[in-house]
Amino acid sequence: MEKKTAEELAALETTRQTFSKGLTPEQVAAKYDDWSSNYEEMLSNNRYRAPHIAVDEIANLVPEDQRKNIRVMDVAAGTGLVGIKLREIGFKNIDALEPSEGMIQLLKDTGVYNLKYQEFLGHGKNTVPADTYDLVVIAGGMGHSHIPVSGVDDLVRVAKPGGLIVIVMRLEFLTAVEEYRDKLEPYLDQLEQRGVWHKESRKIVPNYFFEKEGIVFSYRVK
Ligand SMILES: C[S@@+](CC[C@H](N)C(=O)[O-])C[C@H]1O[C@@H](n2cnc3c(N)ncnc32)[C@H](O)[C@@H]1O
Repeated sequence: MEKKTAEELAALETTRQTFSKGLTPEQVAAKYDDWSSNYEEMLSNNRYRAPHIAVDEIANLVPEDQRKNIRVMDVAAGTGLVGIKLREIGFKNIDALEPSEGMIQLLKDTGVYNLKYQEFLGHGKNTVPADTYDLVVIAGGMGHSHIPVSGVDDLVRVAKPGGLIVIVMRLEFLTAVEEYRDKLEPYLDQLEQRGVWHKESRKIVPNYFFEKEGIVFSYRVK
């Protein structure tokens, strides 16, 4: 492995601190407020590829001629990297959910998003209307102290019947994050067994965050 530059080490350290165990949702949002001004720069140069991976997956699943009409919800939207890429490939009707004031201000500046919900997912206070979206995406919103397993119910609730849900996260979080270990993926499977959704694909991808692998789950709500 090559020696990391000072910028790379700073990106690793800031990410480690932001994804620390035991933070409250408000503490996480405050960390992103502080990080927002140099978030994109720190994670540039392919250090963090979740938005790219998510949009590649969506491009494979949604035919080009359907993109301009369908309603999209970008959950944990951050500064809007996913929305910008979605617009580049033809999506026009994109809303966002993002709890951090600092991040949501930058997301608004992109001009890509219609409705912007400044709230958390999975903490029982979600005001996004049910059965609204043809596509719901999360890139990078899962991790220590981030979206809990109960957030999955919110995803299903806001998706329309027949809607797609795409979750992109760091692979190691499935086992390293206590909230998810033996819980998150079994719950995704349970929802399939209960006939809530159907798994379109589960893929492990390289270089999600530096050399760490990512995982992409895609589900079609019934
Ligand atoms: C690593 S960033 C990803 C942002 C963007 N999707 C991207 O890929 O650049 C994680 C985002 O999750 C948001 N977040 C953290 N906890 C959340 C929760 N419970 N519900 C919704 N978003 C949350 C943070 O505010 C932050 O903007």
